[in-house]
Amino acid sequence: MKTFASSKQLRKSLAQERAQGKTIAFVPTMGNLHDGHIELVRQAKKVADIVVASIFVNPLQFGVSEDLDSYPRTLAADKQKLFAEGTHYLLYPEVDEIYPEGMGSQTLVVVPDLSDTLCGASRPGHFAGVATVVNKLFQIVQPDIAIFGKKDFQQLAIIEKMVKDLCMPIQIIGVETVRDVDGLAMSSRNGYLTDEERSIAPALHKTLLECREAIACGFDSYEELEQHCIDALKEAGFKPDYFSVRDAVTLGGVTSQTEQIVILAAAKLGKPRLIDNVTLTLNPHQDWGMLATH
Ligand code: PAF
Repeated sequence: MKTFASSKQLRKSLAQERAQGKTIAFVPTMGNLHDGHIELVRQAKKVADIVVASIFVNPLQFGVSEDLDSYPRTLAADKQKLFAEGTHYLLYPEVDEIYPEGMGSQTLVVVPDLSDTLCGASRPGHFAGVATVVNKLFQIVQPDIAIFGKKDFQQLAIIEKMVKDLCMPIQIIGVETVRDVDGLAMSSRNGYLTDEERSIAPALHKTLLECREAIACGFDSYEELEQHCIDALKEAGFKPDYFSVRDAVTLGGVTSQTEQIVILAAAKLGKPRLIDNVTLTLNPHQDWGMLATH
C-alpha cells in the first residue's frame, strides 16, 4: 500500500495507473476504521482494479459544539487494516492540505433541500461540509467509482444528488450497513458508549425493525407510529432527535408515488448521537403489497 499525505503526489501516481487503463474505486473515511469501513474496501476491490482510501477528519462538517477534538484518531491501526485488505493507495492529508486558505473563505458545495432535513435540521452546515470535502477528494482522486455506507443514508442521497447535478463521471455505490450481532450499526462513535449504554444501544435498530414491521402489516398512520417509536426510545434511555418515515428517494414524506420507504432515526445515548435506518420496498405487483428489505 502506498501512503500519501500530499494530494499532488497521490494524483501523480494515480495518473500513471489511469494511463495503464486501470479503473479506480475510492473509499473516503474519517478513520477509526471498523468492519463497516472494511466492507466498503472489500466492495471497492470487487468493482475496480485500484482501491484508494482516504482518512481525513473533516473539520468543516463538525458543528462548534460537536466532537471534532475528541473524534477518535487511530492512524497506525487504520493503516494496518487497510493494508491487510489489499488497499492500494491511502491519502491521509493534514487540514492545511485540504483547506490551505482556511475554512472561512472556502467555496462550499451545498445540495439544497436534501441537506436541510433530518440530520441537516439539527446539524446546520454539516452536509455542506460533507459535500464540499467529498467534492475536493473526488477532484484529487478522480475515481471511476466511489463507495459509501448506507448507514449514513442521507449523506449517500446527498452525494448521489451532488454527483448527478454537477455531472461528475463517478458511479456511487451504497453498501449495506454492517451490524454487531445484536443489531447495533457499526460506527466510530460507538466507542463513546459506556457498558450500560452499549447494552441499551441495539434498541435503536430494534425499534426501526418494529416500525417497519407495522408498516409492512398495513399500518399507515406514520405520525402516530413515529411518536410511538420516539416514546419507546425515550423509555429505553435515548434522547431522540428524530424518528421519521420517509420516501427513500426524495427524503420527503411518503406519497402515492413512493416506491421505497426509509425509516430513519437519530438519538443521543450518553455522549454519542447514534443514527440508523431501515428500508421497505413497496411492490404493488405482489398480492401482499409490500416487501421488506434492509
Ligand atoms: O462518512 C464519513 O466518514 C464522512 O462524512 C466522509 C464521507 C468521509 C466525509 O468526510
